[in-house]
Amino acid sequence: MNYLGSKQLETKRLLLKTQTINEQKRLWEILMIPKVNKYYLNVSTKLREKLLDWDTKEKFYKKEMEHANDKDIFKWSIFLKDTGECIGRISCQESYDENSSVREPNIRDVGWYIDPFYQGECYGTEAAIAMIDYMFNEVGIEKIMTGAAIVNKPSWKIMERLGFTRQDKTFMVQYTFLDELTEDYSYILNKDKWLSLKRKL
Ligand SMILES: CC(C)(COP(=O)(O)OP(=O)(O)OC[C@H]1O[C@@H](n2cnc3c(N)ncnc32)[C@H](O)[C@@H]1OP(=O)(O)O)[C@@H](O)C(=O)NCCC(=O)NCCS
Repeated sequence: MNYLGSKQLETKRLLLKTQTINEQKRLWEILMIPKVNKYYLNVSTKLREKLLDWDTKEKFYKKEMEHANDKDIFKWSIFLKDTGECIGRISCQESYDENSSVREPNIRDVGWYIDPFYQGECYGTEAAIAMIDYMFNEVGIEKIMTGAAIVNKPSWKIMERLGFTRQDKTFMVQYTFLDELTEDYSYILNKDKWLSLKRKL
């Protein structure tokens, strides 16, 4: 695996840029929309209050941004090329097994969110293709293992459109802003499958 970090990626309509502090408030505002965080955020439910407070979050993001250029960080802010507006975030982070142990670094998880104002225009798919292609082709990861709430069709539709295979077993997730556990589909995408399908996208 090549630790190349969050190098800028370009698509027809989007720029995926290394994160900076400048767009973090906008990204936080998007993330605090219930429709966005509902099936995305799965940090401890005890953090609900802190997440909703910008002053606390600003400190967190300032610390996080100190590592935005680290070569083992794969996390981008998504910008519209036309207007320069920041519309979302996409990442390829460590993957954890059912015992909460981190898997080897070349097996990774993915995450994405898009401002609801811009959803349904295939920006999510476009950003995901660019990031996944970079991760398999240039960074050289072997596999993506991820999940999406069964009710979160827009997210797993991206996975299925891009060739992820749905596994038989589902799993339960405690999302941060939900009181009940949620059932998630589990998905896998291997490098070989990506490379064989890529041409047809
Ligand atoms: C998941 C998300 C990033 C998708 O972004 P997007 O830019 O709207 O995605 P796309 O426009 O590329 O659409 C993906 C698919 O979902 C479908 N879709 C979009 N909005 C939908 C909706 N409200 N209901 C059902 N399907 C929807 C699209 O038609 C497309 O399906 P297709 O491949 O059959 O055409 C966005 O919905 C989001 O930010 N959700 C909240 C955060 C989240 O849950 N992240 C994922 C955690 S696993």
